[in-house]
Amino acid sequence: MADTTTGTGLPKGFRSAEQGWPELERIPHPPYRVPLLGDVVGASRHTPLQDSLRLAHRLGPIFRRRALGKEFVFVAGAALAADLADESRFAKHVGLGIANLRPVAGDGLFTAYNHESNWQLAHDVLAPGFSREAMAGYHPMMLDVAARLMEHWDRAREAGRPVNVPGDMTKLTLETIARTGFGHDFGSFERTRPHPFVTAMVGTLTHAQRLNAVPVPFLMRRAARRNDADIAYLNRTVDDLIRARRESGPGDGDLLDRMLATAHPETGERLSALNVRRQVITFLVAGHETTSGALSFALHYLAQHPEIAARARAEVDRVWGGEEAPGYDQVARLRLVRRVLDEALRLWPTAPAFAREAREDTVLGGTHPMRRGAWALVLTPMVHRDPEVWGADAERFDPDRFAPQAVRSRAPHTFKPFGTGARACIGRQFALHEATLVLGLLLRRYDFHGEPRYRLRVTERLTLMPEGLRLRLERRTAAPTPSPADAGAGEEPGSALRCPVRGAGD
Ligand code: HEM
Repeated sequence: MADTTTGTGLPKGFRSAEQGWPELERIPHPPYRVPLLGDVVGASRHTPLQDSLRLAHRLGPIFRRRALGKEFVFVAGAALAADLADESRFAKHVGLGIANLRPVAGDGLFTAYNHESNWQLAHDVLAPGFSREAMAGYHPMMLDVAARLMEHWDRAREAGRPVNVPGDMTKLTLETIARTGFGHDFGSFERTRPHPFVTAMVGTLTHAQRLNAVPVPFLMRRAARRNDADIAYLNRTVDDLIRARRESGPGDGDLLDRMLATAHPETGERLSALNVRRQVITFLVAGHETTSGALSFALHYLAQHPEIAARARAEVDRVWGGEEAPGYDQVARLRLVRRVLDEALRLWPTAPAFAREAREDTVLGGTHPMRRGAWALVLTPMVHRDPEVWGADAERFDPDRFAPQAVRSRAPHTFKPFGTGARACIGRQFALHEATLVLGLLLRRYDFHGEPRYRLRVTERLTLMPEGLRLRLERRTAAPTPSPADAGAGEEPGSALRCPVRGAGD
C-alpha cells in the first residue's frame, strides 16, 4: 500500500526546493540546523503545522525548512499567497500530506494530479450535486441529523454532563454527508465509541501526516501495517455501501446515484468502479472532518464571547422566530451566524494548508524566481493573521471583520479557508449551509458555558480540531414568534435571498 512513497515518507517524483527555486538561499530558515536531520529543533511530529506557524512569526512571509534531507518553502504572507492564487501562473500541487493519502483516495477528486483525466470527469459529473437545487434537497436531511444531535445534547444536559464538542460535531457531520450523499446511516449517535469508520479514517489521516515527520524505520513499518488495515476497512465499508445501492436500485438522485449512473454531459464517459470507491471515501472523509472542526471552533469562540453569542442568538430569534424547522432560504439570512463561522475559519482554517506549483518559470511576488513545477505550501492560518490585511489585532476573534463593508474593503484572495482556483473546495456551499444551520439551531436552543480552566489546544491530523473542548449547556426558554414585520428587522440590506456562500471575502 505504501508504494506511492519512496520509503522516506516522501512521495515518488518528489521535487525539493533546491531543484525549483534558483535563489533559495535568499529565503530565510530557522537558525539551528542539525546536520542530516535539518530544522528539527523545537519540531514535534504531532504539531507540524503549529511549529510552522511559530517559525512564520519569526521568519516572515516566506521561509524554508529542511527535513528528510530536503528543503521545503512555506508562504505565510497574504501578498505572496494572493500571487500564488493567480491561476494563469500557478496550479494545485499534490504534495506531501495529500500525496500520502493516494494509497487510500487514489485519483479521487481531492488527491488527483492535475493531469489525471479522472479529475475533470468526476468534477463535471459531481459539481451539479452541489447546485442550489441539490442543496435545497439536502436541507431536510440536515435538519433530521441536527435533531438527533439535539436529542443527544438534551440527554447530556438533563444528566448534568458536559458535551464533547469535537466528538459530537464529528458524529453530526459524518451522519450528514453519509445521509445526503449516500443514503447511509452510520448510527453514530447511538454509539458510545466512534464508529470504526471514523477510527480508521483518523488513523489514515494521522499516518499521512506522520509520514512527513522524521522517519523512524521500525515505527514506520508497524504504522504502515496498521495503516494498511485501516485502508482495508475503509474499502470494505464503502464497497458494502455501493453493493447495497446497486442491489436496491437508485436513491433520490444523491451523490452516489450521480457517481454510479451519470455520464459526462459532453463525452458520455462514466466513472469506473474503482474510481467510484475512491470518490465515496474522498467525500465521506473530506465531507465531514473539516466541517466538524469548523463547527467546534465556532462553538468554542461563542462560549468565550457571550456578548457575541447573545447578538447571534437575537438574530436567530428575529429571523427564525419559533418556527421549528427553518426553511432552506432562511439559513442564508443568518448573516451574523455566518460571520461567526467565517471568523472561526479565519483563525483556524480546518484544512490549514494547500500547496501551489508554478505552471511555467515565473517570479513569485516579483522577487523569488521559481522554475516550472517548483512549489510552496501556503499556511492559511498565517495568511489569515497577516497584520497588513487584518490589522494589529489579527489574533482577536471579531466576526464584524466579515461585515459587508469590511469584506469589500479588503484585497482579493486574502481569505482562503476553502483553497483557491479550479481545485478549490467543491463542498464549500454544503459545508457553510450545514454549519450555519446547525449553529443557528444550537444557539436558539442552548446557552453554552465553557469549562473555566479550558485553554484552546489544537490537535492536528492533517485537519485541525480543538482538543478536549467540552461545553455545559443550559436550555433556553422558547424563542418568541415574531410578527412578519419584525422578522426582517435588523437584517443587512439585500441579504435575504443571497446564498451564504457567495461573496465570502475572497
Ligand atoms: C469547513 C469545511 C471545509 C473546509 C475548510 C474545506 C477545505 C478545503 C480545501 C482547502 C480544499 C483545497 C485543497 C487543496 O488545494 O489541496 C478542499 C478541497 C475539496 N473539498 Fe473541502 N472543505 C470543507 C468541506 C468540504 C465538504 C463538506 C466536502 C464534500 C461534501 C468537501 C469536499 C472537497 C473535495 C472533493 C475537494 C477537492 C476538490 C478538487 O480538487 O476538485 N469539502 N476543501
